[in-house]
Amino acid sequence: MRLILLGAPGAGKGTVAEMLVQKYRIVTISTGDMLRSAVNEGSPLGKEAKEFMNRGELVPDSIILGLMEERLRSGDCREGFILDGFPRTIPQAESLKAMLSKLGIGLDGIVNLEVPRDVILRRLSSRRTCSNPDCQAIFNIYTKPSKKEGICDKCGSATVQRDDETEEAIGRRLKTYEEKTAPLIGYYKSDPAYASLPALDAKEVVDAIVSRIGGK
Ligand code: AP5
Repeated sequence: MRLILLGAPGAGKGTVAEMLVQKYRIVTISTGDMLRSAVNEGSPLGKEAKEFMNRGELVPDSIILGLMEERLRSGDCREGFILDGFPRTIPQAESLKAMLSKLGIGLDGIVNLEVPRDVILRRLSSRRTCSNPDCQAIFNIYTKPSKKEGICDKCGSATVQRDDETEEAIGRRLKTYEEKTAPLIGYYKSDPAYASLPALDAKEVVDAIVSRIGGK
């Protein structure tokens, strides 16, 4: 399965990706997780990305495209992958098309997750994320609390609110999404692999994806 998950911040891309990964032997490529790891490591790339991320802006395409090209060539992508958070601009989508054609790979699904804004705001302010850069498991204090408050079920590290989860940064991320990322819906709409799904229930989304492309 080779899948792109599109959707606003907090639409549930990471949550759906995690559920699909448990079902199929594929990897999730989350540019957000990759960037947060780089920030935690304090690498030059992380230092450059941090300011953009904390302001709720997109990291420049020049940084993301280099990261992605290298990642898609990795051996663990051969069985399939889920792209979570990439592409996020039309130029990124154009570059992805070129990268995939160079690698001789096609996409099985391009799925847009539809969630109303009030639900998104509630989800983002109640999300907790594992602070271990190698884990980054997602929880929610209302809908998916960790078994022990403040502790990740998977690795035992502390769960925290992300640096871009302030009210101001969330507002900026949603604005950036409308301006830069939502136009991807028009870009992909005529592709036979495209579908837009109501995403209030993550399990229903996963079932819909599995029934559309699970056998491929
Ligand atoms: P990134 O990490 O990709 O953030 P995002 O797109 O804003 O998406 P989120 O991770 O916030 O949300 P999600 O849709 O994965 O939702 P989740 O499953 O966690 O990017 C962060 C930053 O990095 C960007 O702002 C940018 O600066 C930079 N960046 C990343 N990629 C880039 C790129 N390609 N180009 C340039 N810059 C880039 O769910 C949210 C919460 O809701 C959780 O608590 C979850 O438990 C809960 N939840 C989910 N689904 C449900 C459900 N069905 N019912 C109830 N609760 C649910």
